[in-house]
Amino acid sequence: MRIFIDTADLQEIREACSWGIVDGLTTNPSLIRKAVEARDEVDIEAYLEEICRTVDGPVSLEVARLDAEGMVAEATGLHERFNPIAQNVVVKIPANTSSEEGAPDFEGLKAIAGISRRGIPVNATLVMTPEQALLCAKAGARYVSPFMGRVDDFEVSQSDAQRAGLPSSGERLVSEIVRIFRNYELDCEVIAASVRHVAHVRAAELAGAAIATVPFPVLLEMIRHPKTAEGIRRFTEDLVPAYSALLSALSPS
Ligand code: E4P
Repeated sequence: MRIFIDTADLQEIREACSWGIVDGLTTNPSLIRKAVEARDEVDIEAYLEEICRTVDGPVSLEVARLDAEGMVAEATGLHERFNPIAQNVVVKIPANTSSEEGAPDFEGLKAIAGISRRGIPVNATLVMTPEQALLCAKAGARYVSPFMGRVDDFEVSQSDAQRAGLPSSGERLVSEIVRIFRNYELDCEVIAASVRHVAHVRAAELAGAAIATVPFPVLLEMIRHPKTAEGIRRFTEDLVPAYSALLSALSPS
């Protein structure tokens, strides 16, 4: 499974890239806000340029407009501006931009179709059901991002009766989408998103997701284990002086 880092914080990005495990990156407006607000006077254009340059793999940048025409225009603009830096820009489009009764529900799909036809790769975001994932893949999305954590939150917020009728938790959501895409040989990769803890990463691996996009603190959780720490303490205590001296002699620095 490929690992993307789910952050817009350059410090975190540089650090994780130095570990040799980052295959790409995802941002969204909330992550950009968090990164920008933590700094004084960020030149957002230069900042995003630096992110594209730093990450050796696809970088998802999200649009803000809610209408298809506006999303296509923003996607084209983002791609023209940032893709020449490292040829790695993917545009993130919500599966559905409607947030209130009466607002159109298919602007996201229209935008995905229009942008994909222009040859710009799309990451369909805010995917909460296998049906949304199927429609986004059919519209031409290169990636779909099922939101594991937010689907879990949604279920927890429902009454017992409502919960009983719900089709999937975050884990099941990812595994069902992977199965459906395999059944129909859809040329669209699944990015397990809204990852909140190691159990989500493990579930994505077991489900066969192509990618998980993982926040920095969860990457730390993935590498830590109390018995690993205990083992290191023990090995350090057990070093005999002669072995220690030999290692020093072999590695002058
Ligand atoms: C990634 O593409 C998503 O934007 C991100 O994983 C959302 O995570 P959250 O639900 O923790 O905000």
